[in-house]
Amino acid sequence: MNMPVNTDVLADKEPDSEDALDRVLVLEMVRVTEAAAVAAAQLVGRGDEKAADAAAVEAMRRAFDNLYMDGTVVIGEGERDEAPMLYIGEKVGGAPGKGPKIDIALDPLEGTTITAKAGPNALAVLAAADEGNLLNAPDTYMDKLAVGPGYPEGVIDLAKSPTENVKAVAAAKGREPADINVCVLDRPRHAGIIAELRALGCGVYLIGDGDVAGVIAVTDQDTGIDMYMGQGGAPEGVLAAAALRCVGGQFNGRLVFRNDEEKDRAKKWGITDYDRIYKLEDLAKGDCIFAATGVTDGSLLNGVKKRKKSTGATIMTTDSVVMRASSGTVRWIKGEHRIAPHRTD
Ligand code: FBP
Repeated sequence: MNMPVNTDVLADKEPDSEDALDRVLVLEMVRVTEAAAVAAAQLVGRGDEKAADAAAVEAMRRAFDNLYMDGTVVIGEGERDEAPMLYIGEKVGGAPGKGPKIDIALDPLEGTTITAKAGPNALAVLAAADEGNLLNAPDTYMDKLAVGPGYPEGVIDLAKSPTENVKAVAAAKGREPADINVCVLDRPRHAGIIAELRALGCGVYLIGDGDVAGVIAVTDQDTGIDMYMGQGGAPEGVLAAAALRCVGGQFNGRLVFRNDEEKDRAKKWGITDYDRIYKLEDLAKGDCIFAATGVTDGSLLNGVKKRKKSTGATIMTTDSVVMRASSGTVRWIKGEHRIAPHRTD
């Protein structure tokens, strides 16, 4: 008997409004992060951060040309005079003036030191949204606080102390503060936070680098991480926020300025309230896409691997994720890439 099939059950079919990001672009974004990851992977463990970053940047820049969009880099490799490619304001995409106007936040290699040292959690990563929907974050630090989905809105508050936040999250979980695990970047500047968390009996998961993966880890129960806390790059904060917009969770971010020059830079991007606490929608609003490909193995994704197929061909495998805020769809994509056409060795 043929059962009637409801083909509209998937939420992914919903967002058809005119301002929604072109759905075709969602999957295409993975090609871009894959290209950057494969390029950077050639330099894993080679001790050369700059070369790994440059390889990822170049590959990502090239891959954007194949996308039908009129894109603008709003978070990139720096300002025009300091970055040869993927600088803030650079136009990317194969349809300038014709395709959908998309703002892009990117980090072709999130974890340059990780890659150089063959550590865990290096990613090629980007977020995309309709023009004007991503915060043009200056390249400063940001205080970050995040939890995964399922908590009452406002459970975390950057205006409060680490102790107060841990207690609030523990209470919402019906657990003790000592049951809470917090991911923190292993930096001397976090000594105070770490001491406070340890005094509560929390598990402190220290990471050497890569706080985009660190923040996203709070959304995955398998990591055992309940919260993310501490200072990292502001651009990485916007990227992580875009991911949390897609999969749920809460995020508070506050820019940290070390001098007037950093404040001036922020002013240039329209930021005047230097103490503002940004929430998810302030960092990435409307519909947005987050895409990442693993460069090295990590909590979110596996790294690029070289494999010999039974046919004898050598391939590179990639592990990627692409998510969309309006539908909440998360796609895990495994890729096999031939190293060079027609080669079988
Ligand atoms: P890079 O890939 O640019 O090296 O960034 C890695 C990273 O660990 C980020 O994930 C994090 O936001 C930032 O550096 C922290 O900065 P710092 O190393 O100065 O503490």
